[in-house]
Amino acid sequence: MKIIHLTDTHLGYIGQKIYQRSPVIALEKAVESINQEHSDAEMLIITGDLAHAGHPEAYETLEKTLSELTIPYHLVIGNHDDRAVLSEIFPTFELDENGFGQKVIETQKGVFILLDTMIEGTHAGVYCEQRLDWLENEISKADAANRPVYLFMHHAPFDTGIPALDVIGLEKQASARLADIFDEFGNIKHLFFGHYHRPIAGSWRGVAFSTLRSMNHQVRLDMHCESMIQGCFEEPQYCVVLLQDDATVVHYHDYMHSSEHFDIGDPLKAHV
Ligand SMILES: [Fe+2]
Repeated sequence: MKIIHLTDTHLGYIGQKIYQRSPVIALEKAVESINQEHSDAEMLIITGDLAHAGHPEAYETLEKTLSELTIPYHLVIGNHDDRAVLSEIFPTFELDENGFGQKVIETQKGVFILLDTMIEGTHAGVYCEQRLDWLENEISKADAANRPVYLFMHHAPFDTGIPALDVIGLEKQASARLADIFDEFGNIKHLFFGHYHRPIAGSWRGVAFSTLRSMNHQVRLDMHCESMIQGCFEEPQYCVVLLQDDATVVHYHDYMHSSEHFDIGDPLKAHV
């Protein structure tokens, strides 16, 4: 089963440039690329910061651009988003019984759980008791049914080694509770997240994770500066994820890269 992971579209109001760039152009090209190359994917999931400042026009642009997709899509909320505006413009961005943008998607390969780590007034993430209880219940149900779980969220519950971003990761108390949940259940297969605007992969509590670049501005690999997030304009990318019975494979696709394509050689013939 193939899915597409894309993140941090950071759309503004119509005509607005974000750090001197127009993020909608990168998103339009991503949609074009996905339609051309990966129309066999089951779905696209965007892990937050859909808008740069929660502007209604940004979500309208997102809705219009994503309407060109030939595959279904699902949205996760990020710290730059506005929950109320988002749910108003996207009927599929449903709020749970506690008013959070969380949902469960049943798929042929397992249960996808989309989390809401947003709180107004800070770029850091939270995951309160209500949300933790909801998540624990959903994972528990999947575990009882012998179903693997794939989690999608905006903030990561661990430090990445980039101090200017780690101060706006998921707050420590929630991370500790999430750690307990990860330790308790053996059915969590992968954690996909956004927020960091960099390709990063590894594992946490024995569970694999991956994140990737945004559609607009990226974060430089600076492991020293604590007082300022360091930006750059590396190319946008999306991930092509293959969920297999015994492996999860994550391909990073710099879909706007334009260097020459050429034949390297027949893979079944020995090269001199
Ligand atoms: Fe972002």
